[in-house]
Amino acid sequence: MSIKIREMISHDTIMKRIRELGEQITADYQGKEIRMICVLKGGVFFMCDLAREIRLPVSLDFMSASSYGAGTESSGVVNITKDLDESITGRHVLVVEDIIDSGRTLALLLEVLKDRDPASLRLCTLLDKPDRRVTQVPVDYCGFTIPDEYIVGYGLDLDQKYRNIPYIGIVEED
Ligand code: IMP
Ligand code: MG
Repeated sequence: MSIKIREMISHDTIMKRIRELGEQITADYQGKEIRMICVLKGGVFFMCDLAREIRLPVSLDFMSASSYGAGTESSGVVNITKDLDESITGRHVLVVEDIIDSGRTLALLLEVLKDRDPASLRLCTLLDKPDRRVTQVPVDYCGFTIPDEYIVGYGLDLDQKYRNIPYIGIVEED
């Protein structure tokens, strides 16, 4: 069995959309500082590019959670494997995710973060796969809504591979 990756969203299209999201976030947060929280590892490429398009002071922190084992199916159990370094109490928190699929990971993370009393809490995801939603999550900013396909590239992996592909592609098995 071999694997092929068919391009779904080009690098140029991703970067253009990120510029638009940066402009929108800049307008929405005028006069404020943003604490961007990246959900590792998939969100890291997106957070770096998005941060550069926000014309306001930002600080960055990282969190890691997982509901996937090796493979493409959610295990349904979410573990926080790395917590934030800094307190978010009183901060304007923007959670940056690569993709929302079942929504289980984000639903748990948002509950944990809300309990820490941020001044505000919003969610920005590059990709949304609404067909697979099991748990509702409020999405404030979304790059692209996509159909139910397993995708890789621009941070997203299959068994930790393909994160560095500059575009987003569909994994096809021959
Ligand atoms: P959820 O909890 O089902 O919403 O999924 C959480 C995480 O699973 C996402 O943040 C991704 O890291 C990963 N994931 C979901 N769908 C895909 C996909 O199509 N490709 C790669 N990773 C995915
Ligand atoms: Mg993720």
